[in-house]
Amino acid sequence: MSTESVLDAAYWQQRYALGQTGWDAGAITPPLREYFSQLGPPDARRILIPGAGRAYEAEYLHRHGWPNVVVADVAPEPLQALQERVPDFPAGHLLLQDFFTLEPSPPYDLIVEQTFFCALDPALRPAYARQCAHLLRPGGTLMGLLFDTEFSQPGPPFGGTREEYRSYFAPYFEFKHFETATNSLKPRQGRELFICLTKR
Ligand SMILES: C[S@@+](CC[C@H](N)C(=O)[O-])C[C@H]1O[C@@H](n2cnc3c(N)ncnc32)[C@H](O)[C@@H]1O
Repeated sequence: MSTESVLDAAYWQQRYALGQTGWDAGAITPPLREYFSQLGPPDARRILIPGAGRAYEAEYLHRHGWPNVVVADVAPEPLQALQERVPDFPAGHLLLQDFFTLEPSPPYDLIVEQTFFCALDPALRPAYARQCAHLLRPGGTLMGLLFDTEFSQPGPPFGGTREEYRSYFAPYFEFKHFETATNSLKPRQGRELFICLTKR
């Protein structure tokens, strides 16, 4: 697709309707599963997964007892898919909403990133970092994966470099991890940064 296309809700809904969902891993990915396994026992922490798509991470956390997992997406299809796979996932935690309009009421403890940042128009990257900081409590965490590569095709996905990404997050976050992921899915191996950032 061309970068002139509008990456709005209709665009994404159409991608789901046409089955053009090459990003969809069909299951939680190893880096996120491993990170979640280190969170300790489930508690009341508020966890946001924006641009969640079919949200296998939300399913995983829910099935492991985490009660306050919220997913947001502009396309209805993937949210319905989550509801069908996990009928007892709280309906009030499925937000059919633009990430940039979310409010920290109350603030989140953790935001999980996977193939959402790369799906956005790159012009929105500074706003993405600012909005993550807005939604998190001080000391809260933004973690996940960012593509550390350029793609030959026009996006989405849009690639980039760690130096570029660092400049977006540095105003708001301390960097705990910002290095090549060691346990990416095979097609993504060596091309993903594992990030774990703490809001100041
Ligand atoms: C490339 S897909 C990734 C989905 C999911 N994270 C995954 O890894 O399977 C990007 C997702 O972001 C959603 N999206 C795009 N712009 C959004 C926005 N401004 N707010 C919330 N969701 C958005 C799309 O509908 C789509 O589901």
